[in-house]
Order: sequence, then structure tokens, then C-alpha cells
Amino acid sequence: MIFKFYISKSTKFFSEDEILEMLKGFREYNEKNDITGMLLYKAGHFLQLLEGDARINHLYEKIEKDSRHSHVKLVLDGEYEKRIFDMWTMAYKSVDSIDHEMEKKLDEIINSYDRNTALKREMVLGTLKKFFFSA
Ligand SMILES: Cc1cc2nc3c(=O)[nH]c(=O)nc-3n(C[C@H](O)[C@H](O)[C@H](O)COP(=O)(O)O)c2cc1C
Repeated sequence: MIFKFYISKSTKFFSEDEILEMLKGFREYNEKNDITGMLLYKAGHFLQLLEGDARINHLYEKIEKDSRHSHVKLVLDGEYEKRIFDMWTMAYKSVDSIDHEMEKKLDEIINSYDRNTALKREMVLGTLKKFFFSA
């Protein structure tokens, strides 16, 4: 199982409805290709985790070229024993009501430059888990 986590800048403002509409198509494709993961949209940035087999590389190449965003920057990639988002063809949660600590963590991820350090991996994946799976 491999994964990729990137951040990018959206090229326009997306409403919650527009994101949900886009997700319908993404999820259909991901379902067919056994791809799971999560998408976050925060203050003009996308953060996305893709999980699956080598087919995520092909998807990532398409995503990189997508004109709905730019400055696509790979933050983490590597191998997993087990998916984090195994129940989701692409999890999405609005960031409207996040607490201050989570806000700081997400900003830290968005503004970070180092890639693929063990500490970074733990921090990013830990933050995503906390964001999606704690009440
Ligand atoms: C932020 C962002 C995330 C995306 N995530 C996915 C995704 O998870 N699955 C997917 O099939 N397409 C996703 N896309 C869309 C792809 O970039 C692309 O439009 C889609 O795969 C169709 O490509 P095609 O028309 O060349 O086949 C995403 C696009 C953006 C901008």
C-alpha cells in the first residue's frame, strides 16, 4: 500500500457545494480504482491524501495538471501497512469549525518545506487522523 499527501493552492474560491459536487466524480473514479483518502479545503489551499496501489501515481499525475489548482507540492509519500481512510473513497470535512490548535497544525503543514522526515510523517498523519476521527 502506498500513499501520497500534497498541498496546493486553489485557482478560484470554491463553495462547499462546489467541493461536494466535485467529490462525487472523484469518489466514483476512486471507488473503481481502489483509491481511498481525504481532502481538506482550507483558506484557498487543498490538502489531499491518496492511498492505494500504484494507480495513485497515475491519478496524482492527472491531479497535478488540473487547472482548478496550482503550486501542487508533494509533502509526504511512502508506504503503509494499512490505510487510514479505508472506509472512504475520499473523505471530506469542512474546516469551518476547527479549534485553534487544529488550525495551527494545519497552517504548519501548509507552510512547511521539509518532506518525508519521520517526524513530519507522524505529525501530518496524526493531525489528519485527529481531525477526521475525533469528535
Ligand atoms: C484538489 C483536487 C483533488 C482531486 N482529487 C481527485 C480524486 O481523488 N479522484 C479523481 O478521480 N480525481 C480527482 N481530481 C480530478 C483530477 O484532477 C482529474 O480532473 C480527474 O481525474 C479526471 O481526469 P481526466 O478527465 O483526465 O480523466 C482532483 C482535482 C483536484 C483539483
